[in-house]
Amino acid sequence: MTGFDSHLFEGRTVVVTGAGRGIGAAVAAAFLHCGASVIAHAGRDLSHAEGDLLSRVPSAARSRLVLLTEDLAAPDGGAQLADQVLARTGVIDVLVNNAGTMGGRIRAGEETAETYDHVLDLNIRSVVALTGCLLPALRASEQASIVNTVSISARAGGSAGSALYAGTKAFVSGWTKTLAKELAPDGIRVNAVSPGTIMTDFHRRYSTPEKLEATAAAIPLKRLGMADDCAPAYVFLAAGSLSGYVTGQVLEVNGGQLMP
Ligand SMILES: NC(=O)c1ccc[n+]([C@@H]2O[C@H](COP(=O)([O-])OP(=O)(O)OC[C@H]3O[C@@H](n4cnc5c(N)ncnc54)[C@H](OP(=O)(O)O)[C@@H]3O)[C@@H](O)[C@H]2O)c1
Repeated sequence: MTGFDSHLFEGRTVVVTGAGRGIGAAVAAAFLHCGASVIAHAGRDLSHAEGDLLSRVPSAARSRLVLLTEDLAAPDGGAQLADQVLARTGVIDVLVNNAGTMGGRIRAGEETAETYDHVLDLNIRSVVALTGCLLPALRASEQASIVNTVSISARAGGSAGSALYAGTKAFVSGWTKTLAKELAPDGIRVNAVSPGTIMTDFHRRYSTPEKLEATAAAIPLKRLGMADDCAPAYVFLAAGSLSGYVTGQVLEVNGGQLMP
């Protein structure tokens, strides 16, 4: 991984959720490359971390990485993960709320109590709970920053079957801006990264190759995004030295797919 300043986050502690694979893995690896100590919530278990996150981490940086697991779709998942994090550190400089998923293509009228709870508990409840529990540790930092992962679907609407998912990301987008105002007096900046169509397991699960090919053809930069295309946006928004006057913003990373 090149292009990152290896001292940018030296001595800083970064928490990333959903970091075992995909966008979160690229983000956690980027912060490690920038010298941070990273507490990475890998996902529900460690099964994907070996093939993705750990393959991105040079052995010299492995001692700065802690791996945790927690089911964040469980109603108390956010609080449980916070307990695990706070058992390891009392100061957090950066929190990246990234874990999330669509929970399947759920058509209008086909929602069940289970699918509704799963998508909203994971994409909203756990984010709000984890952030709330970690606020004292963020306040203990001199330059704290929260970066949330939202989605192009929050603004543009998603494709069929993703209405609940898009709604949760719109929630986090509005919540991000409100929190940015509320936490500014504490010196905590709050922003979001909004990925477009990024080629991770997310789309391997939910989109056909034909749909992805058609999407890529319609994107001005003529390709789907990769997890590594997203990571620098998180580093930028987290670094006070780069974005110290930026808060309450949603940074779109989508190859020009949406130009709000
Ligand atoms: N890929 C895209 O095009 C795209 C576009 C816009 C926004 N996003 C957002 O970007 C974020 C990362 O997505 P991705 O593309 O990197 O997808 P991904 O490769 O499927 O990774 C999703 C991550 O979230 C974790 N996660 C999912 N369900 C969980 C649960 N119940 N409890 C705990 N962790 C859970 C996963 O852990 P497990 O390994 O345990 O499943 C994994 O670490 C998500 O918030 C997604 O909504 C993605």
